[in-house]
Amino acid sequence: MPDTPIPPFPANFSWGAATASYQIEGGWQADGKGESIWDRFSHTPGKIIDAATGDVSCDHYHRYQEDVGLMRQLGLKAYRFSISWPRVLPAGFGTVNPAGLDFYDRLVDALLEAGIDPYVTLHHWDLPQALFDKGGWLNRDAPAYFADYSALMAKYLGDRVRHWATFNEPNVIAGAGYGSGEHAPGIKGDRKSVCQVTHNLLVAHGTAIQALRGIDPSLQLGIVLTEWIAEPASDDPVDVAAADKAWYSQETTFIHPIFRGHYHPLTVAAMSEAYPEIKAGDMALIAQKLDFLGINSYSRSVVGAHGRVNPVPGSEYTEMGWEICPPAFRRILNRIHAEYDLPPIYITENGAAFRDEVSPDGRIHDERRTDYLRQHIGQLRLAMQDGVDVRGYFVWSLLDNFEWSQGFTKRFGVIRVDYETQKRTIKDSGAWYARLIATNQLD
Ligand code: FCB
Repeated sequence: MPDTPIPPFPANFSWGAATASYQIEGGWQADGKGESIWDRFSHTPGKIIDAATGDVSCDHYHRYQEDVGLMRQLGLKAYRFSISWPRVLPAGFGTVNPAGLDFYDRLVDALLEAGIDPYVTLHHWDLPQALFDKGGWLNRDAPAYFADYSALMAKYLGDRVRHWATFNEPNVIAGAGYGSGEHAPGIKGDRKSVCQVTHNLLVAHGTAIQALRGIDPSLQLGIVLTEWIAEPASDDPVDVAAADKAWYSQETTFIHPIFRGHYHPLTVAAMSEAYPEIKAGDMALIAQKLDFLGINSYSRSVVGAHGRVNPVPGSEYTEMGWEICPPAFRRILNRIHAEYDLPPIYITENGAAFRDEVSPDGRIHDERRTDYLRQHIGQLRLAMQDGVDVRGYFVWSLLDNFEWSQGFTKRFGVIRVDYETQKRTIKDSGAWYARLIATNQLD
């Protein structure tokens, strides 16, 4: 138990859960959907640890009503999901797939009917394969395609969906998609490609924000960034300098230009020869005013003079190999609040993968996940008391799902999914979360 007493949450705090289209929907070829880079990548042998694909996954495309029913049972006030771009625009632009639009239409109506506020993420990594074939995010035309797709969705759902995020974790698209190749499209690229993709994603974000404002200036617009605080291994000035360097050269690559209108000098230094091509007006386009900032945070990195310290002696780790360090959650929120002039924040993802076991009574006593959530939500509340304006929290994830290159080997859900039968079971952590939502106070 934390020593500091945790006050209740504000009455209108948005308690939610998050998912992403490719991770839960399945229906990969249903009703005219186009191929995404994740379809192509997961079907390529050797890319996914357990050779799994998202072809069916949680079959949410066909079972969304049951899933909304479960959300209602948990008492969720909000639900964050992403739209599969190739489901609505099979080629990424041009001809619309009406059945795809219809799916999101029905999902949004079911959520509203259940009293749950929909939060849309326009792009959570499943780029239409047809756009990748035109150069993907290395193509300077991609931002315009993204803005057109964003405007289409806002025209269609903007009367019912108030909160729109452009991208989920664009740094992961650049680093894992075009650098290490661990994610789709699986490019093992040089630094130059990673930096150009970074810049083009930022331009795409700004272009889409302008297009969305053009559709309806009252929409609440933002982006979802992942922030892991880089902390020094000791208070030795050499370690402190190394952690600072890691922070400004990596962790602030996206937040800095969005809120300051330029790349941090340490980011520029780290890009060095790989500095991207930047057109006149790009930086102002990137720094569009936002109504909220989504933060995904799961852990931290500890950095010393000789690089990343991993594992950190004495620390516990989740199944992802991520250090469990709840106080770092309060510190990261305070740090970005102190360094940038930010709009209201939503925690758009936080949660933990553990090896769950189904008890003979059919229940999942996932105490470690409950404990992880309790500690992190406690630290979040303290950060709010410190003065950080946080309006909502979305647990990752509503359901166990396809964890990218880790396939189905990692379970993050507060609801278990049996992938053989598609049976859903609310875990103990889910029941605990429902009590928190009902009382607005940590136990
Ligand atoms: C985040 C992703 C999300 C999920 C979690 C565990 O980086 O946004 O889709 O994979 O990690």
